[in-house]
Amino acid sequence: MERLLVKGGNKLFGSVEITGAKNAAVAILPAAILASEGVCVIDNIPDIEDVQCMEKIMRSLGCEIQRNKNEFVIDSKSISSTDAMIEEVKNMRASYYLIGALLGRFKKARVALPGGCHIGVRPIDQHIKGFEALGATVEINHGSVSIQAEKLVGTNIFFDVVSVGATINVMIAAAVAEGTTILENVAREPHVVDVANFLNTMGANIKGAGTDVIIIKGVPTLKGCNYSVIPDQIEAATFMIASAACGGEVTIKNVIPKHLESITAKLVEMGVEVEEGDDSVTVKREGNLRGTNVKTSPYPGFPTDVQQPMTVLMCLAEGRSLVNESIWESRFKHVDELKKLGANIKVDGRSAIIEGVKEFTGTVVKATDLRAGAAMVIAGLVAKGETEIYSIEHIDRGYPHIEDKFRSLGGDVTRIYK
Ligand code: EPU
Repeated sequence: MERLLVKGGNKLFGSVEITGAKNAAVAILPAAILASEGVCVIDNIPDIEDVQCMEKIMRSLGCEIQRNKNEFVIDSKSISSTDAMIEEVKNMRASYYLIGALLGRFKKARVALPGGCHIGVRPIDQHIKGFEALGATVEINHGSVSIQAEKLVGTNIFFDVVSVGATINVMIAAAVAEGTTILENVAREPHVVDVANFLNTMGANIKGAGTDVIIIKGVPTLKGCNYSVIPDQIEAATFMIASAACGGEVTIKNVIPKHLESITAKLVEMGVEVEEGDDSVTVKREGNLRGTNVKTSPYPGFPTDVQQPMTVLMCLAEGRSLVNESIWESRFKHVDELKKLGANIKVDGRSAIIEGVKEFTGTVVKATDLRAGAAMVIAGLVAKGETEIYSIEHIDRGYPHIEDKFRSLGGDVTRIYK
């Protein structure tokens, strides 16, 4: 069975390039469905399973897609189906963006209910509330969402919770609604801004992305454009934490340091040196790590997607650390795996209390979900001896060529194919 074998103990040195953001790419690709003329040429798309899944789904609808390394050329003019019901739709979370994109372009869609990591209940009520407010009728039955509208009309929508997915999905549909839509209490994540920029490059009129109110003046149609996806904040944070955990000195290139501020601040608090460049951060750690507290929250707060890798670092820090996971109610499945390596962690509801340990000892663990998988790789890199990580399909969903990137820094990570 495919797995990663990690031999721990090496410090990390050198530089690593961060690729395009997964959570931006998986929204921008389906948003390209809105281009009823021209083609979208989108660069910096990461080579990950979730992107391959989205590509397959879009082809099944009739999109013509050409790939040249990280560049996708998407021709959505000849889409022949608004039914996204193939198996891949259920395997990934971001397939919900097909609802907003197909609704916007064709005023109807049938999309299988999305899957994704098992990190808690993942409702889509806020997406539906937004689509209904724009004039759509939504039915959920037999595992799919059926949606249609005679026309979409802009309105004011106040989201009950700050949701990345609902913000992006409703923004995609509202880009081509009649009149003005005002979205309030929206997510401010960098990938929300990236999708808004992409839509604007296609001819949309969206202002305010990155603040908590987004104003969208609907336009009748959108057309193809050239665009490049922003760097992945979470992949960058993962390498920052790995470098801090292993010790050494690593420059993480092709990043937007501003997007990493909450992670940089925590690392500095823990005794790690972080130097920001224009589009890079250098992470250096020589002394002992100090324990700290982390509460996850929407951007610009500490990202929930970095919580699991960060827990590894806290396990190796002196004293007690606390994690409060405020976004997902069961994002602690990595804890049992870390305990197998020697971690001392107690989970109480949405909190984890971590007592620092001197070292980890390698053993067999599994990636219970995407970011838990990244946490296992970091833990393996610092553990004494060998760590075997199973269920790595979760890691491949979001991290391109993780073993090659760590090997280039001196980390001993090998993919075993049988
Ligand atoms: N929520 C609702 N109703 C909704 C939507 C969300 O109650 O209709 C709640 C959720 O249950 C959760 C909170 O709102 O408690 C935030 O959820 P959000 O909608 O922001 O999450 P998402 O869009 O499903 C994206 C990322 C996740 C990341 C979260 C939070 C994608 C494809 N996924 O999920 O990424 O954890 O935002 O930042 O963009 C990952 O990359 O590992 C990952 C899980």
